[in-house]
Amino acid sequence: MFFSQAAIALFAVGLTAAAPVVEKRAAITDADILNYALTLEHLEDTFYRQGLANFTQADFAKAGYDATFYSNIQKVSTDEKTHVSFLTSALKAAGAAPVEACTYSFGVTDVPSFLATASILEGVGVSAYLGAAADIMSKTYLTAAGSILTVESRHSSYIRANLKEAPFPQPFDAPLTLDEVYSLASGFITSCPSSNAPLPVKAFPKLQLAPMTAKSVTAGATVTLLTPGYTLKAENDAQIYAAFIAVTGPTFVPAEPVNGGFSLTIPKGFAGQTYVVLTTCKEGVSDETTAAGPAIIEISA
Ligand SMILES: *[C@@H]1O[C@H](CO)[C@@H](O)[C@H](O)[C@H]1NC(C)=O
Repeated sequence: MFFSQAAIALFAVGLTAAAPVVEKRAAITDADILNYALTLEHLEDTFYRQGLANFTQADFAKAGYDATFYSNIQKVSTDEKTHVSFLTSALKAAGAAPVEACTYSFGVTDVPSFLATASILEGVGVSAYLGAAADIMSKTYLTAAGSILTVESRHSSYIRANLKEAPFPQPFDAPLTLDEVYSLASGFITSCPSSNAPLPVKAFPKLQLAPMTAKSVTAGATVTLLTPGYTLKAENDAQIYAAFIAVTGPTFVPAEPVNGGFSLTIPKGFAGQTYVVLTTCKEGVSDETTAAGPAIIEISA
């Protein structure tokens, strides 16, 4: 823990002072955002602790990962644990109730599936902190969140490089909204303590890339996004679009209904862990026009 009690107390001042200022954001306070961040950190912390309890260094070695890699994953686990205790202390110092860990279902069966999920979680973490930045009122909290974001992004690059994926596939990372991140996180959450204060977030219907025969997805490829468990129908059979999320604004492509989901063509300009939502309009992506997603697609250059 590198933040002194004095620094945490300072955050507390920032929080009280900042919360009521801007009317538009009255619904989301800095305490909400910290609890949202803590929700994700609990998920990551539990994930690494479970994984390291499930798999020994020998298991990693058998899967082709050396002792240095294993000890770096232990370090990642310690980082996530420290993020949990930091956010918990900051919330307590601000007089807010920190959320507690939920129970999760990660579906991990071996070292490769553990690392594939780790990579996805780190990428989502980066996009979550990035997307929340503009909603944080207190500059002190913003700096603290930024200092977590940069570390999550190093975790992401390190794991990606070791999975033989591009460590920094594009010049900008994509910001995700609270609802988009929660939609992804809720796929891993089984149940949460009833004492956890509800967050001002909702999950969109699930959207996932259909299993493919091709080894990698590139621009120009046609893919199917599945809407498991439900059928999405546009009003009056209007066109549904797939929106690929980027900091510079989404790229829309038509999404054509097929059995169990939608078929679409990957646009140019995306690489690495990419997020796509289904929308009912192509003017912009908002929580109101999002029909499902995000789905995560790993795109190769
Ligand atoms: C740990 O193992 C259990 C039981 O096989 C599995 O359900 C869980 O997803 C695993 N978690 C991680 C993070 O490896």
